[in-house]
Amino acid sequence: MTRRRISILGSTGSIGRNALEVVRRNPGRFSVAVLASRSNVSLLREQIAEFQPELAAVYDDAAAAELRAATPGCEVVAGAAGLEEAAAKKVDTSLCAVVGAVGLKPMLTAINAGNRVAVANKEPLVMAGAHIMEQARGKNVEVLPVDSEHSAIFQCLRGNQSKDVERVHLTASGGPFYGRPPEELRHITPEQAMRHPTWDMGAKVSVDSATLMNKGLEIIEALCLFGLRSTQIEVVIHPQSVVHSMVAFCDGSIIAQLGVTDMKAPIAFALNWPERLPAPAMRLDVTSLSELTFDRPDEKSFPCLALAREAAEQGGCAPAVLNGANEEAVEAFCAGRIGFLDIAAVVENVLATCPIPREYTIDAVLEADHEARINAAATIKTLEQ
Ligand SMILES: NC(=O)c1ccc[n+]([C@@H]2O[C@H](COP(=O)([O-])OP(=O)(O)OC[C@H]3O[C@@H](n4cnc5c(N)ncnc54)[C@H](OP(=O)(O)O)[C@@H]3O)[C@@H](O)[C@H]2O)c1
Repeated sequence: MTRRRISILGSTGSIGRNALEVVRRNPGRFSVAVLASRSNVSLLREQIAEFQPELAAVYDDAAAAELRAATPGCEVVAGAAGLEEAAAKKVDTSLCAVVGAVGLKPMLTAINAGNRVAVANKEPLVMAGAHIMEQARGKNVEVLPVDSEHSAIFQCLRGNQSKDVERVHLTASGGPFYGRPPEELRHITPEQAMRHPTWDMGAKVSVDSATLMNKGLEIIEALCLFGLRSTQIEVVIHPQSVVHSMVAFCDGSIIAQLGVTDMKAPIAFALNWPERLPAPAMRLDVTSLSELTFDRPDEKSFPCLALAREAAEQGGCAPAVLNGANEEAVEAFCAGRIGFLDIAAVVENVLATCPIPREYTIDAVLEADHEARINAAATIKTLEQ
């Protein structure tokens, strides 16, 4: 078995830590060439000591200086340029697992370096998915999904042709508040929103799951990863989180992928691709399943889903505007500046008022992201409690 060289951008986060657990439990399979994080020096220092990468990147300058002093055997780079350097290192697979739009440039850089990319960091795909996929095709580089739903769709599609796909059922747990009326959602705190019922994830994706924006972002992610039309994607609320998604084909067959809620499984699948090797994930006991339910989502109480669909249908830079506004709104919510329901209100207002560039280039996407954030900041000010 050949040893895989990998880089992990976002190694101290929930996905990054799970990926290192996959490495740890498969001795001899992977060599970790690069680790990158924002500011968590203490954990990164431990990871460097254990995995001995050639290069480590920390976004925060002060954190980089502290790390350099603590790990003399490892080259440490800093800032946005450092993250770019980390992404540019030639490896077999780059796991893109930072959170948010900051991951867009490094993802493109990793592709340009000829690295296969395993994508957990969905926001760049939402902002510039068509561009990323085109660049990957140009470089003959594979883009592999890590998001459990997209990994499921990818696995269901194996051995089939995309022309035969009728529809994709994208499953959603519904998050911690599904089924509650809007008046009950008004006073949700960041701590409550970050406590997901079935998945253990980072703060931003947990809040996105609670508003259902995560599912909206995933619709856009699926459109570009699998070349689907938005009318082919149906979101279904599946609180048990056992079926990670399903693909319905033109002959009436539906293929589903099932498993436990453990991100190590889709991470291992992507890192081992095209082989399927034993994963350190828990096994699903199908005899323990008493019921699997699938309902239509309530878009009235959870308007983020409809907003994301609207941006997807507009296309071009509209998803980048949606994403930029959402990132700002989630940050303001987590800082206690706005309420839970204000997240959707900010995104809706920004989508309605922010000028959306007509052209679709990386510069236009970055400009749209920038304008959306300015617009969102102004909207947040008017809502501040
Ligand atoms: N967690 C899940 O189960 C899950 C499932 C599906 C998809 N995803 C997606 O995967 C991505 C990561 O999610 P997560 O839950 O792992 O997030 P997380 O726990 O918040 O971790 C984010 C990681 O990115 C690093 N980071 C943030 N900003 C950075 C920057 N400017 N430069 C370099 N590193 C930076 C963080 O470093 P510090 O620790 O130093 O801040 C951390 O290592 C998100 O896009 C999310 O939507 C996550």
